[in-house]
Amino acid sequence: MNLKEEHSMMTIQEAITARHSVRAYSAEPIPKELRSQLDACALECSKEGNVHIFIRYDDPDGFDSRLAHYGNFKNVNNYIVLAGKKDADFDLRCGYYGEKLVLFAQQLGLNTCWVALTFNKRKVKEILSDGESLCMVIALGYGETQGTAHKGKTVRDVSVSADAPDWFAEGVNAALLAPTATNQQKFQFAYRDGEVHLRSKGIGTCLRTDLGIVKYHFEAVTGKTVIVD
Ligand SMILES: Cc1cc2nc3c(=O)[nH]c(=O)nc-3n(C[C@H](O)[C@H](O)[C@H](O)COP(=O)(O)O)c2cc1C
Repeated sequence: MNLKEEHSMMTIQEAITARHSVRAYSAEPIPKELRSQLDACALECSKEGNVHIFIRYDDPDGFDSRLAHYGNFKNVNNYIVLAGKKDADFDLRCGYYGEKLVLFAQQLGLNTCWVALTFNKRKVKEILSDGESLCMVIALGYGETQGTAHKGKTVRDVSVSADAPDWFAEGVNAALLAPTATNQQKFQFAYRDGEVHLRSKGIGTCLRTDLGIVKYHFEAVTGKTVIVD
């Protein structure tokens, strides 16, 4: 590999655009060099976010069942576990830091899918430390495909802004490319007095985790802070 290739990792914006949920994976294992980079990122996220994010490699049990496929998933041999001490902001922080790791994995050429429901909860809970709660998991590996873009809402659907600078719409667009549970996109951004505010809108599942995910997308692209109300 020449130097140019070595330094051609995609940008965060490119990762945001390229990322789609992938549920069917190839059997190709994740190479050692990538594992150490992913583990380092997981550790950094855990420290920054006061959560316990770690990766299980070559462990198909997390999605195992008597059926060949678990839910609509296939060949999930690696997964990210989002765990930690549960408090008021636990799901929000898991969303934020889980997505940071998702986009890093995408930059390394891997694919992912957030999973709240169709994984083996009993098996995954067995590997948690005492007193830890489980938020959810994220499937990880080389996809059979790169997935497809979801249909989505528009900037006007999910934001209110009077006199917002250009970066506000860029941030909202990045948020619209984010994964949300059942693609619900039940969030609302507002630009007020120079500040960006974010809240959920309506009822749904995993709304707090979704908020953490979209907060990360907005901040990663704009460098601005999003205040969750
Ligand atoms: C918090 C959360 C939970 C999710 N849970 C599941 C799940 O249990 N099963 C599943 O197949 N997909 C799950 N997804 C993936 C979403 O369906 C997917 O992100 C959404 O349809 C948008 O598609 P995209 O990720 O390809 O952009 C989940 C996503 C999020 C953010």
